[in-house]
Amino acid sequence: MTVSPLPIAERISRLGTETAFAVSAEAAVWQAQGHTVYPFHIGDMDLPTPENIVEASFRALRDGKNGYCPNAGIPALREALAADVGASHGLELGPLNVAIEPGGKPVIGKFILALMNPGDEVFYPNPGYPIYESQIEFHGGKALPYGYVEGSDNFELDFDALEAQVSPRARLLIFNNLQNPTGAESSPAELERVAEFALRHDLAVLCDEAYWDTRYSGQSRSLASLPDMAARSVILYTFSKKFAMTGWRLGAAVGPAPIVDVIAKLNVNDESCSNHFIQYGALEGLTGDQSGPRDIVRVLKERRDVCVSLLNQIPGVSCFTPEATFYLFPNVSELMARKGLASYDHLRRTALEETGVSFCTRLHFGRALPDEKDAYVRFAYSGITVPLIEEGLGKLKAWAEA
Ligand SMILES: Cc1ncc(COP(=O)(O)O)c(C=O)c1O
Repeated sequence: MTVSPLPIAERISRLGTETAFAVSAEAAVWQAQGHTVYPFHIGDMDLPTPENIVEASFRALRDGKNGYCPNAGIPALREALAADVGASHGLELGPLNVAIEPGGKPVIGKFILALMNPGDEVFYPNPGYPIYESQIEFHGGKALPYGYVEGSDNFELDFDALEAQVSPRARLLIFNNLQNPTGAESSPAELERVAEFALRHDLAVLCDEAYWDTRYSGQSRSLASLPDMAARSVILYTFSKKFAMTGWRLGAAVGPAPIVDVIAKLNVNDESCSNHFIQYGALEGLTGDQSGPRDIVRVLKERRDVCVSLLNQIPGVSCFTPEATFYLFPNVSELMARKGLASYDHLRRTALEETGVSFCTRLHFGRALPDEKDAYVRFAYSGITVPLIEEGLGKLKAWAEA
């Protein structure tokens, strides 16, 4: 049945999507037609989940952990994650501060449902993970985008955009340090400025730290660790990237117990509980042998180095070297001018068809902001090997030079 006479609910018109999945579908069609595709478009991983995690999950399943479990997660995992995040953030956390979720993504909508009333205003990064805007608008909020600008060695948050939009209805700030898609990472001074802004305007903050452990040097820093911030912050934690578990679907909301309680109540209504037996795998991930996540970071770093070096050799392309995430957000304004390509879509389609290199553009991460001048695309290197990076970017360079 392809035609339905039933009207779709009005609220669905406000629901967005993750258009990177559409790029994947397009690349798959191109590949099915017999072409080679170099997949830089999606932040999924081609690396295996560490064996000790797989084994612990199987063991739990064989041991009868196939029924429902508590709505906020098994106590041992809540405890272990509270200890892990507490130690890395310098915070005193216990199991009541943790709600286990089926992925990090559900934390976004649940945070908004727990703290935003219809008509409230929410700051969110643009370019940014597209689900923020979708969930804000779906639940009747007003989405206020703030952007990033090029600094000396990475992107920096555009504070003017934040300050310019402040209004008495502003309630929430969504903040993604170690940022998708730009790879931006806040300096201590920037973090202090954001914290001061959140405190001045009495905002609740979602600290999306999906890439906290995906880092190559230095140490991740959290907005939630700054004075007076923990009481107003919910941290989005995910097992997806650190442990190459994107398809397992496991994450957590970490924050003040009363908010975590509300999120657990939303769990009861949405999915009852997260997948039971894999929580034992995640527990092993947090408390067992750490060579798996170390190997993942080592492989990703090798890819980052090759990718950055080759992208910067392409005429008209310039790219920072982020110390965290597995994304690069090169400026391609000159490349587009050089090739006479006026639109992002034209650039992306032409590159795919003439070189097989597949990537997302800035527009997959939100509508362009009014004063935006430069053009950017996103390269994810989490799902492509070094030899294929070399081959693909070699073709892209030859195409750019032609
Ligand atoms: C910034 C950001 N937040 C959250 C997520 C959600 O990841 P998951 O639902 O797999 O935990 C992603 C995934 O790509 C992301 O990039």
